[in-house]
Amino acid sequence: MTAKILDGNALSAKLRESLRQRAAELAAQGFQPGLAVILVGENPASQVYVRNKIKACEAVGVYSEKYEFAADISPEEVLGMIAALNADPAIHGILVQLPLPPQFDEDEVLEAVSPEKDVDGFHAENVGLLAQGNPRFISCTPYGVMEMLSAEGISLRGKEAVVVGRSNIVGKPMTLLLIGASATVTVCHSQTKDLAFHTRRADVLVAAVGKPKMITGDMIKPGAVVIDVGINRLRGPDGKLCGDVDFESAKEVASLITPVPGGVGPMTITMLLANTIESADRASAK
Ligand code: GUN
Repeated sequence: MTAKILDGNALSAKLRESLRQRAAELAAQGFQPGLAVILVGENPASQVYVRNKIKACEAVGVYSEKYEFAADISPEEVLGMIAALNADPAIHGILVQLPLPPQFDEDEVLEAVSPEKDVDGFHAENVGLLAQGNPRFISCTPYGVMEMLSAEGISLRGKEAVVVGRSNIVGKPMTLLLIGASATVTVCHSQTKDLAFHTRRADVLVAAVGKPKMITGDMIKPGAVVIDVGINRLRGPDGKLCGDVDFESAKEVASLITPVPGGVGPMTITMLLANTIESADRASAK
């Protein structure tokens, strides 16, 4: 069997077209959606992500502001910036790109963002609402994964889902969403004793560990749906991107698989736009 490839670029393009229309309607009512992005330091991957987020905003008619700070900035200055953005009616979403330099307490910064503008879904209040099954903002990558599964008409009810990775950004919210969709969910991580035992049971396998090509074809149940959240840059002259899944061997076993690049990645940014537009929509209804 060769798996069908889930094209995140194509689905994103379709979703972004309807987001562009909704943003234009809101703008016509005086509520052009606005996103502020804060980037601290010179992490090259973060710089690329932020550039892509800003570009995506422009393409769908979301107003954006980018605030760049040197790596040695004091946390107080960034917290002051966040407080100003919390109070700015032109801004409906605030995103602090992670990771932050070591002098920062990341939790303190994430908690400083108004939960009503927390389009990343990282604020404890929004994580709590998601855990209760009543989400306000869903973090963008797991939200994008759910949209991809839904667009393919994949029902999760009663399915065995295995999430590899337990991060706050992906693994944990992904787990909550899969439970909410009535899957039976197993979460694996670096201390899991026999990873392949678990992954081979998965009808739906989500890899979010950050280890290049760690999940190989022999670890996948025939016919499984394989979602690769990893974005790893391989060493070497061409510095190619690859996922946490060994695509070549996995595609011979899975029924559906997301590629890297061009799978989950574009969906993450699309859901950031969706959350920002949703936030502006809520502001317009107040
Ligand atoms: N760093 C890696 N992924 C993300 C993300 O989704 N949002 C933010 N803010 N930072 C990140």
